[in-house]
Amino acid sequence: MRTLTVPLPGREYDILIRPGLLPQAGGYICSVVPQARKVALVTDSHVAPLYGETVAHSLARAGFQVETFVVPAGEQSKCSKQLARLWSSFAQFGLTRTDCVVALGGGVVGDLAGFAAATILRGVALIQIPTTLLAQVDSSVGGKVAIDLPEGKNLAGTFYQPRLVLMDPEVLGTLPHETFADGMAEVIKYGCIADQGFLEFLSQNPSRSAIMAHIDQVLYTCCRIKAEVVAEDELDTGRRMILNFGHTLGHAYELAGHYTTYTHGQAVAAGMVRAAQLGTALGLTPAHLAPDIAQLVEAFGLPTAIPCSQADYAAAIGLDKKGAGSSLSLILLDRPGHALAYPILKQQLLEML
Ligand code: GLY
Repeated sequence: MRTLTVPLPGREYDILIRPGLLPQAGGYICSVVPQARKVALVTDSHVAPLYGETVAHSLARAGFQVETFVVPAGEQSKCSKQLARLWSSFAQFGLTRTDCVVALGGGVVGDLAGFAAATILRGVALIQIPTTLLAQVDSSVGGKVAIDLPEGKNLAGTFYQPRLVLMDPEVLGTLPHETFADGMAEVIKYGCIADQGFLEFLSQNPSRSAIMAHIDQVLYTCCRIKAEVVAEDELDTGRRMILNFGHTLGHAYELAGHYTTYTHGQAVAAGMVRAAQLGTALGLTPAHLAPDIAQLVEAFGLPTAIPCSQADYAAAIGLDKKGAGSSLSLILLDRPGHALAYPILKQQLLEML
């Protein structure tokens, strides 16, 4: 078992990483919320048939009264309708402030169930059990919970830290290749922004099977970096912004594909390569880094570039909105394994793009 602590004063929590953890989830959850009697287990229509019963049985064996709430799989469930449905379901289940919500699934389930837990009864305990690589290395850690609005992604949300994060690497075995690759974009990001040794390790292990042979260490390294960054800047006003490496331009690529053509990981992969190229053009990023990152993302089946119009770039950097400010902080690399926020005029950035 590998254990990490996210050291937020008064709200610290553990991340437990171990193959075969899922059937023992109930015991670990009981140890962090011993006063809870009821557990609202939220999952989606893909994950429920794979792991829903295992977790529900484990919770029941630990003495909890469990009810499972299944949302349709997919980003469209991160919406106000599903949120309101969960609120009503929790109320009908008789959830109290000392009970808890368990989010079993990928980023959509974690964000939606997390936001529901943060807001029902003004907040009940939340446990994250992420089942995708992306959710394990990113969205389940750090407390960002949200739903999408018709006006944009993640527009309604809050910061709400879980009490515990349980990661069972064995669940990654059932992921489709594209979903695994999606998570690899974020894994590569951690190497780029914070750990040169890890970046070199990824370059030497450029395949799913090689990564899976070291998956405990990979998850531990990514979560260690994220935990450090979140502990320093929980509310995302400073250092946490380095986690956005590849994301500003990635947002443009997601826009270009109307959020359907490219997955988040594909957009971030191309965004990291483009950001490294821009960094080199600005005299900050060593010239070898863009091709190095391109080679790595390509090895995992991720794109190195995505066609994008000036209008989508402008929208992604906020140049299309009046009064949104004339500059932004672009996350760039000044060396392998180190990122910084680089202030740049939006107009200058658009011209470079
Ligand atoms: N996914 C970026 C963050 O948690 O800040």
